Amino acid sequence: MIKIARIDGDGIGKEVTEAGVAVLESLDLNIDFIEAEAGRECFDKNGTTIPEETIKIAKNTKATLFGAITSTPGQKSPIITLRQELDTYANLRPIKSFKGVKCLFDDLDFLIVRENTEGLYSGNETMENPEKDNAKAIAERVISRKASERISRLAFKQAIKLEKESVTCVHKANVLKKTDGIFKDSFYKVSEEFPKIKTNDYYVDATAMYLLTKPQEFDVIVTSNLFGDILSDASAGLVGGLGLAPSGNIGDKHGIFEPVHGSAPDIAGRNISNPIAMILSVSMMLEYLDEDYLANKVKIACENVLEKGKTLTPDLGGSSKTIDVANEVIKEINNLN
Ligand code: NAI
Ligand code: MG
Repeated sequence: MIKIARIDGDGIGKEVTEAGVAVLESLDLNIDFIEAEAGRECFDKNGTTIPEETIKIAKNTKATLFGAITSTPGQKSPIITLRQELDTYANLRPIKSFKGVKCLFDDLDFLIVRENTEGLYSGNETMENPEKDNAKAIAERVISRKASERISRLAFKQAIKLEKESVTCVHKANVLKKTDGIFKDSFYKVSEEFPKIKTNDYYVDATAMYLLTKPQEFDVIVTSNLFGDILSDASAGLVGGLGLAPSGNIGDKHGIFEPVHGSAPDIAGRNISNPIAMILSVSMMLEYLDEDYLANKVKIACENVLEKGKTLTPDLGGSSKTIDVANEVIKEINNLN
């Protein structure tokens, strides 16, 4: 029995999680889903965006499947809290072009590895003279050698696993001399442990341009929290949008798997959200659970559904419902047997 925490969240988070769970349940796995609350609806009900009970459940399971939440103004983000509580220090965001999907580049296949626990997302902000003309807000950007080395090491290990040639470190060490100085130095220090992998480093602004001019060059990108967040959304835009972008938050003891997108209030409740980002996140979760064979099957099934192009949600030009796409993926999985 594999215990999995299931956090649907808000808006389309519920629809896509249902779809992801349907795919998981179609596989020959003995999974016990434990439901837990987080997000805006949870806040309205319980006065907290993430109850202690949710964190406890996530800590006591092998992995967490997370839909998406709607932010609550003035409250800490539940997904950031969860990533910190479970010390899932790496956010893996694969960027891949799919056959049959119209996109800016049809030949991309790289991985963004984003540091998940510090940087500008440390959540330490202070405010001086809030109501006055001289109001000043300060955000702390924490970069430690320990976190920088472990994220770099994980990026190199991913490069080996994915049979990639190079890892590129993205930073802004010319301006953020101390914080990104540590990040870049740690990257090159750790690179000595992986002599077969080529290394390279770019400033984040240049990287933004290269993602548009020569994205094929990238194999694995390793970067800090905020840069990784921005570059991965931009990269998702290169290959068909948020409806196709999965992610995994990995630590030494836990994994949280979630689509990159949010709760999409503009389309929520109509069952037209694209579940592929979630189903690909399910595939990443299966890999994390050492079910590589099933992980690969789920991924190939998604690719086949996209390539056939018959059962697609409106964001990809189709008119199918969320659950229809999930059922089509399940059919493809069964065809692969
Ligand atoms: P969003 O990702 O929810 O939506 C951006 C755009 O992409 C919208 O037009 C939406 O319709 C579309 N989209 C997103 N996912 C889609 C899917 N699966 N299928 C089809 N279309 C899809 O980002 P937005 O609108 O900036 O934020 C909405 C709420 O979600 C906010 O409260 C935000 O704070 C929260 N959010 C939560 C995240 C999480 O739970 N991890 C991540 C990002 C945002
Ligand atoms: Mg984001």
